[in-house]
Parts: sequence; structure tokens; C-alpha cells
Amino acid sequence: MFLLIITIYLVIISSNANERLPKLWNEAPSSISDYPFVKNDSTTSHLINPWLYLDRLGLYKILIITTTPLMPFCSISNASNILFGLPAQFSWQFDSNRLFSNGTQQISIDSWWASANYYLSVIPFLAAVDVGIIQQGSFQIVKQGNFCSNSDECFRQVPEAMIKWRQFFSNLSQPNYCKNDYIDDRIIDKCYLNPMWSAHVASIEHALPLIASKVSLLPSYNEQQFGLGWANIVDFLGMSRENTNLSKVNIYQDEFFPKRMLTVDDKPPHCSDLSKTVNQALELLFSIREEWFPELRILWKRATCNFESRQDAQHVIETVAISKSTAAAYYSEAILKSYLHKCDQ
Ligand SMILES: *[C@@H]1O[C@H](CO)[C@@H](O)[C@H](O)[C@H]1NC(C)=O
Ligand SMILES: *[C@@H]1O[C@H](CO)[C@@H](O)[C@H](O)[C@H]1NC(C)=O
Ligand SMILES: *[C@@H]1O[C@H](CO)[C@@H](O)[C@H](O)[C@H]1NC(C)=O
Ligand SMILES: *[C@@H]1O[C@H](CO)[C@@H](O)[C@H](O)[C@H]1NC(C)=O
Ligand SMILES: *[C@@H]1O[C@H](CO)[C@@H](O)[C@H](O)[C@H]1NC(C)=O
Repeated sequence: MFLLIITIYLVIISSNANERLPKLWNEAPSSISDYPFVKNDSTTSHLINPWLYLDRLGLYKILIITTTPLMPFCSISNASNILFGLPAQFSWQFDSNRLFSNGTQQISIDSWWASANYYLSVIPFLAAVDVGIIQQGSFQIVKQGNFCSNSDECFRQVPEAMIKWRQFFSNLSQPNYCKNDYIDDRIIDKCYLNPMWSAHVASIEHALPLIASKVSLLPSYNEQQFGLGWANIVDFLGMSRENTNLSKVNIYQDEFFPKRMLTVDDKPPHCSDLSKTVNQALELLFSIREEWFPELRILWKRATCNFESRQDAQHVIETVAISKSTAAAYYSEAILKSYLHKCDQ
């Protein structure tokens, strides 16, 4: 009996751990009216400062609250929302001081990570407002440096990203979008993860050149290599259409992401304050040369060309840092299935 209670307790703890909310989630604004009100001549609006952690987190919270009812597989919980991976990543950046907040909630405009994340927070938010899924009155976004702060300006700065995010949200808002008898993983892959990843990858691709000057402000060459390597890997996650719900992303982050910025002295797999799997992931990432990525991308495109192959490709990603032979077996399976089943066009 005692053992049973312990077991149930542990099961509850572990499932809650995976659905752990981003840091300070409950304190972030839940609607535009939660942002401070500013009176400006004849107009009044709410002022959003995306260079404050809670303000930017609030953009995510509003996105998640408004899109959860539009994703039929989220009826049980917001944690199933595939946009939850974004604030989970943002929270990891905050916790590891990658936003250069140094114990405050002020995000530094010098932070490469915060700058990249701008295009994964403000951009999708503005796109969602554009297509009308967020309709909560007028707001203004505080402008800093070269970052675009309204829809027109962002459309001029990163048109492909804006178009793809708008397309994703506008599809979501169609009442008959991908209506099926029941929602299975295949539908989630095709109708939700596909357009979401397409927008996500466009944001990163078009952000990188705009923020290139900030790479050198990262505190070590190791951290630079990690950041740029990660930006490449995201493309591979997108091609395999990883689910980016809260629990899945939390599991990945706990397993593979360094909880602090890397220093000049870090020599993975020998970082004693990082876990074994984080060390293994870093060792792998550092072993891939930048110039290999184009070739790897071609191979990966084949290995992820249909739904069946993508399931194995996801296992490759989950195992490759830990066991090359297991990953190789999954990779062969993925390639096999890319021939057994028709590739998506
Ligand atoms: C007031 O509104 C104008 C026009 O919308 C804008 O350019 C200006 O930045 C605003 N000022 C403040 C303090 O919000
Ligand atoms: C998602 O979160 C919002 C705000 O906390 C809540 O009102 C809503 O019921 C949640 N949705 C689900 C499906 O749990
Ligand atoms: C998150 O996605 C994974 C993979 O598709 C799935 O197994 C899990 O049930 C999802 N979690 C939630 C809370 O929806
Ligand atoms: C904040 O943290 C960053 C990264 O560690 C560092 O480069 C910067 O000097 C710090 N700023 C202040 C004001 O402490
Ligand atoms: C989403 O909408 C666009 C048009 O805006 C359409 O071309 C596309 O096929 C839709 N996506 C899916 C998965 O149906």
C-alpha cells in the first residue's frame, strides 16, 4: 500500500515536472489590458515593452490562451499547445542568463539569444493580431534599435516570416480547417506542426543576418559555437516535425540544454557541473563542422520526407547524442520508410 502511494506520488510529480510552466508564467500579462495604459494625445493604448522579461512572456501567454481553443488536440490542457515550446525556450534563456538580464527582468538588446527570440515572439504575436485571432484593443510596442515594432515595419523587415506566421494563424482560425473525424498524430503533423515549423524556421533564417553583429558579444567562443550550432539544429528539428508542446520541450531542455552560458574553459564532455547528457549533446554539436550542414540537410530531407520516416527521424534526434549506433539504426529505418512510402510533395 505504502509503495503504491509512493509510486502514484512519483508518477504525479514526474508528469507535473514535464508540464512545468515557464519561469514567472503566472505573473505575466494574460491579455493586452494587463499591460500599462498610456494616454497619448487623443489616443490611448497599452504599452508593451518586449525588452522586459514579463512583457515578452505575456505575448506568449496571450498567444497560447487564444490559440489553445483553435487546436482541437488541446482540449485537455494548454500544455498540449505546440506554441508552448517557444516560451519554454525563452524561459531557459532567462534562467541561464542568455538574455543578459543578470538577475533583473531587463533583457539586454546586446544579447544575441534575446535578439533571435524577438523574431519568435513579437513577430508571431503581430502576425496573430494581423489575422484577427487576437482582438483586444490597441497597443504599442516599445521600439529598440533596429527591431521592428509594428506589423507594417515587420512586414518590411522580415516579410517571409510574417507571411508564414500569418498563414499559420489564419489557417488555425478557419472553422473548417483540417476537419477530420478524429485528430491523430498524422493530422497534427500535417496541419499544425508543418506550417508552425515553416514559420519558425523562416523567423530564424531571416533573423540571423540581422543580429549577426551580436554573436561577438556572446561571452565565449564556445557559447558562440553553441548558439550558431543550435540555430542550425532547429532546422533539423523542423524537418522532422518534432512536437513542440510544453512537456516535450521541457524534456528535451532538461536532457540536452546547458543551464548556464558556456565559458572559454568548457571542454565537453568534461564540464563537471553539467549533466552527462548535456555534455554528450555539446560534444556532438561541437564535432559537427559548419561546412557539413548543407550536405547533412540534403540527407535529412530524404530521411524526413514522409510521416512514417519522420517518426524514426525523431528517434534519431532523441538518441544521437547518447548512442550513435542506436541513432544509426533509426536513421536506416527512416531511410527505408522514405522509400516504402510516398514522399510528401
Ligand atoms: C504617441 O503616438 C504617436 C503616434 O501614434 C507615436 O509616434 C508616439 O511614439 C507616441 N508617444 C508615446 C509616448 O507613446
Ligand atoms: C488555458 O489557460 C487559460 C488561462 O489560464 C484557461 O482559461 C483555459 O481554461 C486553459 N485551457 C485548457 C484547455 O486548459
Ligand atoms: C506532447 O507531444 C508528445 C509527442 O507527440 C505526446 O506524446 C504528448 O502526449 C504531448 N503532451 C501533451 C501534454 O499534449
Ligand atoms: C550581464 O551579463 C552579461 C553576460 O554574462 C555580461 O556580459 C554583462 O557584462 C553583464 N552586465 C552587467 C551590467 O553586469
Ligand atoms: C494554409 O493556408 C494556405 C493559404 O493561406 C494554404 O496554401 C495552405 O495549404 C494551408 N495549409 C494547410 C496545411 O492546409
